[in-house]
Parts: sequence; structure tokens; C-alpha cells
Amino acid sequence: MSGQRKDDHVRLAIEQHHAHSGHNQFDEVSFVHHALAGIDRRDVSLATSFAGIDWRVPIYINAMTGGSVKTGVINRDLAVAARETGVPIASGSMNAYLKDPSCAGTFSVLREENPDGFVMANINATTSVDNARRAVGLLAADCLQIHINTAQETPMPEGDRSFASWGPQIGKIAAAVGVPVIVKEVGNGLSRQTLLRLQELGVRAADVSGRGGTDFARIENGRREVADYAFLRGWGQSTAACLLDAQGVAVPVLASGGVRHPLDVLRALALGARAVGSSAGFLRTLLDGGVTALVAQITAWLDQLAALQTMLGARTPADLVRCDLLVHGELRDFCADRGID
Ligand code: FNR
Repeated sequence: MSGQRKDDHVRLAIEQHHAHSGHNQFDEVSFVHHALAGIDRRDVSLATSFAGIDWRVPIYINAMTGGSVKTGVINRDLAVAARETGVPIASGSMNAYLKDPSCAGTFSVLREENPDGFVMANINATTSVDNARRAVGLLAADCLQIHINTAQETPMPEGDRSFASWGPQIGKIAAAVGVPVIVKEVGNGLSRQTLLRLQELGVRAADVSGRGGTDFARIENGRREVADYAFLRGWGQSTAACLLDAQGVAVPVLASGGVRHPLDVLRALALGARAVGSSAGFLRTLLDGGVTALVAQITAWLDQLAALQTMLGARTPADLVRCDLLVHGELRDFCADRGID
């Protein structure tokens, strides 16, 4: 059942990616062009750091899969691409492994193919501390992602309906698991209020993973004959809106959700993200063109990102927050409604 669900997620996420109109709220953020702001490429670094973690690049392959034969092959290929390009990589939810250790290999391949890379384990917020440690142990993970996904669980007949314990459980795991914890959404966004709560719970960083890309309410509806919760489509805040909402919050934020190209990476970094992840976009490249295509895509993104930083005069990704940005349309209304300058 669980393996079938993982295969369905991959199939439906890719169908959704093909059908997507291409527009999202990142299009409502633009840079003021300063024609003499440029610096020399040799002075530009892509290195970023947050919560005591240092990455050589500000792009990562975000959580997706594992748990079935097919998704184990996908994880192997993603891990090879991560190794070849030096980008950090996250596992998909390892709760399948915690329930059924016979699928361990479909996850551990992330470390086996990428022994020196930065690897993130991934679990849900109901996992016990012992099981959180088992997930980290299987991957020799450098940090742990905990996903929170109430808008995915709700349309699932078999989904969780008891969410009250999630916050306290996240706090327990963060205190005891022994590696930094990053709490992430799965495409519906983290509000300022949620980020402040995560800070209180001792979480080291948060990935806002907002609306604009993969939509899990739509995916879960697509898995059954009657789409009971079709109206949940598009639930939540866009990734750009989340980053604006997060201004001034102490917990460092990462960004994912609807990142389409290096300009979106640049926009997210300029809005304060310390690093930027992609899931469905990278998966589609992998499934369409194999590992070679994914390595070429990530390499091109890193190269273009350095080129754009050079044009904008940002020696590091963190310098991008000093760029002059224009915010248009509904995103501007969101800022006005939330009292964001
Ligand atoms: C995901 N995502 C996800 N997230 C998570 O924390 N645990 C998981 O197991 C999964 N599984 C998963 C499967 C597939 C096929 C996709 C495409 C995505 C969510 C993912 O990490 C990310 O938050 C969202 O997909 C938004 O990013 P994109 O896809 O718009 O780049």
C-alpha cells in the first residue's frame, strides 16, 4: 500500500508539473536593474550558511521519495546527481522504512551513492524520538527534516486527523535527535506565526515550502475516483509570500515550492532564504533525460546563479538581500494586508 502510494506520488507530481501553466507568485517579484552594480565573477562565491551548517552551494534537491522498488531507483539516480554536482539532498519520508525495514535499501542508497555529501533524513511529526534516531542513523544523515502536511493528510481517507501533538513532538525530537532539525511544509507554506512557534520548539531552521509548485491536496485527490476535496487545490501561501512574511523572524528560512529556474532561486535568496530547494522540477528532468540531464541542469543552474550574482553585485548569496526589489500584484496586496513594508 505504502509503496503504491509512493509510486502514485511520483506519477501524479510529474503529471501536475507537465500540466502547470508556468506562472506563479515568484513572477510578482522583480529586481531594480542597476547597470553599474556588477562585480567580477572571480569574487563571487555560492557558499551559504545557516544554523551552524555550511553549504558550498545554495541549491538542494528537496525531499521526495523511497519505499518502493521504483522509487529506490529514483533515489539512487538523485544521489548520483547530488554527488556529481555537490548539492545537498533530502530523502523522502522514511516512515515507510520505520514501519517496514525491508525497504531500507531504497533510502540508504542516498548515502551509499553519495558518501561525502550532505544528506538529510525526513520523517513526519508523529515519529518517536527513537525512530527519528533510526532514520538519521540509516543515512548517517547530517540533519533531519520533519515535514508538516496537514493539507495533504486532510483529503486522504486514511490520513491523520490528530494534529495537536505535532508541535510538542517536534520539540521532543529537536531536543534529542543529535543533529540539526529543519521543519518543512510540503507545498502549502509556513506562516510567520508557525515560524515563531517552531523557534520556541527549538527548531534550528525551517523550509517554508510554499504554494506555486507541487500541490499535494491535488495529488491526493488525483489518487481516487471522487475528488472530495477538489476545493483545497491551491491552499496556503506562495513561497514568495512566506519569505516576505518571515522578515525579521530569528529562525533561518530555506525556500522551496514552485522554484522553476535560477531567477526564482535568486528571487528567493533576495527575499531572505539561505538556500533554495527543488523537488518536482528536478524529478521531471531525471525521468525525462536521466542522470546526465539532471547533472547538466544543476550545473547550469549553479553557473547561471553565479553569473546573476556577478551582474547584481552580490559576492555571496547572503548579499542578495541588499538588492532593490519590486513587489507587484497580489503579492503586494498580501504585504499590505500583513503589514509588511
Ligand atoms: C514530495 N515532497 C515531500 N516532502 C517531504 O517532506 N517528504 C516527502 O516524503 C515528500 N514526498 C514528495 C514526493 C514527490 C513526488 C514530490 C514532488 C514532493 C514535497 C517536496 O519536498 C516539496 O516540499 C514540494 O514538492 C514543493 O516543491 P516543488 O515540487 O514545487 O519543487
